[in-house]
Amino acid sequence: MAVKKEIVMSGIRPTGFLHLGNYFGAIRNYVRMQEDFECYFMVADLHSLTTHPDTTELRSNVERVLAENIACGLDPDKAAFYCQSHVHETAELYLYLNMLAYMGELEKTVTFKDKVRQHPENVNAGLLTYPVLQAADIILHRAKYVPVGKDQEQHLEMARNYVNRFNHRYGEVFPEPQAFNYNAELVKVPSLDGTGKMSKSENGMSTLFLSDEDDAIRKKVMKAKTDSGPTEMNAAKPDYIENIFNLMKLVCEADVIAKYKADYNNCSIRYGDLKKQLGEDMVKFISPIREKINTILPDKAYLKKVMEQGAEKANESAGKTMQLVREAMGLKYF
Ligand code: TYM
Repeated sequence: MAVKKEIVMSGIRPTGFLHLGNYFGAIRNYVRMQEDFECYFMVADLHSLTTHPDTTELRSNVERVLAENIACGLDPDKAAFYCQSHVHETAELYLYLNMLAYMGELEKTVTFKDKVRQHPENVNAGLLTYPVLQAADIILHRAKYVPVGKDQEQHLEMARNYVNRFNHRYGEVFPEPQAFNYNAELVKVPSLDGTGKMSKSENGMSTLFLSDEDDAIRKKVMKAKTDSGPTEMNAAKPDYIENIFNLMKLVCEADVIAKYKADYNNCSIRYGDLKKQLGEDMVKFISPIREKINTILPDKAYLKKVMEQGAEKANESAGKTMQLVREAMGLKYF
């Protein structure tokens, strides 16, 4: 008899080009987890409407996220890879969970407060209940593990709160989902300018995209913030230098990193050389992914097939969960 695999779910918003943060925070784990788990990976098109109400470019953005994930190794025959809007029961579960989500805690969510600061003209209710929709995505498949980057930690904590409230009120239906990374600590890939993290929508010069051309990669890395170097042996590293070493850990060989660390500690480091090396290693890492994106993206028939196949698998799983949910809640009258 086949052993039932544990369930994994995660999502990415189609709000721009995917970058190194998306790769190391999320997609790298998708590709590994699809071998050992029952996986549901999703393009979060409904979530993108909370900040991007103009839908003229939505289709091409969705196709891009599909192609970029597949180029990184996501296999739509192994994982269910689908679009959030193709699974209508998400909206039903979102509605039920909204009754278990309290205004006070939603208003305190860090991502909500950030968005309010960035776009005071569009503080809509969808933005406020964004974490509720995300919880619905996850528990719709009764997922236990959620591969995400560090920025999603609070959303996962909120999902666990809703699960506990639901289970307590209506009976045990959902497992508690947890953020997951094989290397234990959740990842935050820093931006090249030393402030914050790489992001789809902020300063493009400080984010390395998976579809960047080689020259753009080199140029961005050379512009990363450094200084004239340490003047004392074994000095503490300023944040922006620490960031560069963190980026090196993602793509450079261990002996290369060790050499530059030693150079830093004995004050002989040459940041120009370090950045040249990092630029070349980034090119080596990103260019094969970019080439694959460029071959997958024009194949619209294939991408449509991926979406259809994914929607079918996701709807099957969602349908089963929602039967349990309606029964547990007493919403079945005949
Ligand atoms: P999104 O689209 O902002 O990001 C997608 C994934 O990439 C990770 N990530 C990063 N990891 C490390 N360093 C970075 N600089 C970095 N930038 C992004 C994110 O943590 C995420 O794993 N709310 C989600 C989308 C979502 C979702 C879900 C996720 C909707 N429903 C259900 C998990 C489960 C988001 O905005 O991701």
